[in-house]
Amino acid sequence: MASFSVSTVAFLVLLAAAAAAMSSSQAAAASGGGHHKLKKTEMTFYMHDWETPTKEENVTNVIIAGKPKTEWDVLTFGSLNAFDDALTAAIDRGSAELGRAHGVYVNTALDGSDLHMMVSFLFTNRAYNGSTIEIRGANRLLQASREVSIVSGTGRFRLARGWASIESASLDFPKSNAVLRWNLTVFHY
Ligand SMILES: *[C@@H]1O[C@H](CO)[C@@H](O)[C@H](O)[C@H]1NC(C)=O
Ligand SMILES: *[C@@H]1O[C@H](CO)[C@@H](O)[C@H](O)[C@H]1NC(C)=O
Ligand SMILES: *[C@@H]1O[C@H](CO)[C@@H](O)[C@H](O)[C@H]1NC(C)=O
Repeated sequence: MASFSVSTVAFLVLLAAAAAAMSSSQAAAASGGGHHKLKKTEMTFYMHDWETPTKEENVTNVIIAGKPKTEWDVLTFGSLNAFDDALTAAIDRGSAELGRAHGVYVNTALDGSDLHMMVSFLFTNRAYNGSTIEIRGANRLLQASREVSIVSGTGRFRLARGWASIESASLDFPKSNAVLRWNLTVFHY
């Protein structure tokens, strides 16, 4: 009986060791080879979000749904916008374009104060060409600075996580045109 218990314990120890080995090799595979170190990248860029055309800008953001039987308004609960916004290195629209922001936001606050963001940053600049970063989060637009999550990425930013802060660098409310400044802190392999 005693020897049976010992071998059972030995068997369980072996099983645990095998499970540990398996989970570490899965983790290594997921990180893309096992010897990659977690890196930190910080970046700042400007997103040009245009709902009303101007002399310098075409429309890059359209409201595509809203509360039934009302005039759709981005600042009203239930409205849904799709956008394809330029990302530039400086606030000036003519500065180097780093990529585009493809996404949607949905007004998800009953008082209209949160444009819930789901965005992919598609980079086309030399450093990050072809890589993407995924954003999710509460964009509480009445706050001067708001923070959303970096939830994933591709290419250079595989398994990315981190955070991004957003500030309105310029805002034209009657036209719903804005330039948003983004600061990203990204951890990736
Ligand atoms: C706006 O659209 C016109 C016509 O397609 C294009 O020539 C121009 O470059 C666009 N402007 C910007 C800032 O993208
Ligand atoms: C980015 O990649 C595309 C496709 O491979 C290529 O055509 C383009 O020249 C690249 N751009 C830069 C800035 O390296
Ligand atoms: C973004 O970073 C700049 C410095 O690079 C800083 O001046 C600014 O306050 C930051 N904004 C936010 C919202 O963190």
